[in-house]
Amino acid sequence: MKSGWIAGSAAILTATGAAVFYLASGAYDFGADSPHWKVTRAAIEAFRDHSIDVRAREIVVPDLQDDQMVSKGAGQYAAMCVNCHLAPGMKDSEIRPGLYPQPPNLSELRVDPKRAFWVVKHGLKMSGMPAWGLGHDDEALWSIVAFVTKLPGLSEDHYKQMVADAPPDEEMGGMKMEGGKVAGSGAGKDAADGKQSGRSSADPKGGQRH
Ligand code: HEC
Repeated sequence: MKSGWIAGSAAILTATGAAVFYLASGAYDFGADSPHWKVTRAAIEAFRDHSIDVRAREIVVPDLQDDQMVSKGAGQYAAMCVNCHLAPGMKDSEIRPGLYPQPPNLSELRVDPKRAFWVVKHGLKMSGMPAWGLGHDDEALWSIVAFVTKLPGLSEDHYKQMVADAPPDEEMGGMKMEGGKVAGSGAGKDAADGKQSGRSSADPKGGQRH
């Protein structure tokens, strides 16, 4: 009985010691271009998803069909999200291939409004996804979510039109120059230029895994 307990403790101490030694030696590669092992990534995603689900459960979703709200969200999306999350007709952006984890393409992904609201408001640790709630009230965040739920069905032209028609937003101050048109046409232009051709094929899975 007693010897089993001692052997168990020794095994735990050895494993902890090995982990501490590994981390302290600098052998772990913190580079964003060195992907996690599949099992590590799966574990992180499971923890992340569960954490978000628990926190998003009680959120009460307002009416997201309001045209004004969706239109406001279009301008905000073009100004704050498009470089990381893309838009219809956009293959990739300058920043997205280098981000790890890579931001999902929200022009193709249907998101649950409660989860999306929580993530947009609070951001996600060590991912590059910012906590937009630090600078924006819930009303502004809901308008973004309202637009994001419409995004997957939009054509490239419809997207550009919605961004061009978006009302100017005081909250975005210096980010836009012509009441929403600059950010929107910029995003459209990148895609139209085919500026990012080839980038989407970059394979982040090569090289070492951790
Ligand atoms: C600097 C890049 C960056 C910007 C800007 C950014 N995000 Fe993200 N976002 C991320 C990353 C990276 C993830 C994925 C994190 C992960 O996989 O754990 C993410 C995840 C999300 C998700 C979760 C999707 C899912 O899987 O359910 C939503 C929703 C989202 N972002 C919305 C937005 C919105 C809306 C904006 C603009 C207000 C925005 N993001 C701006 C990087 C960004």
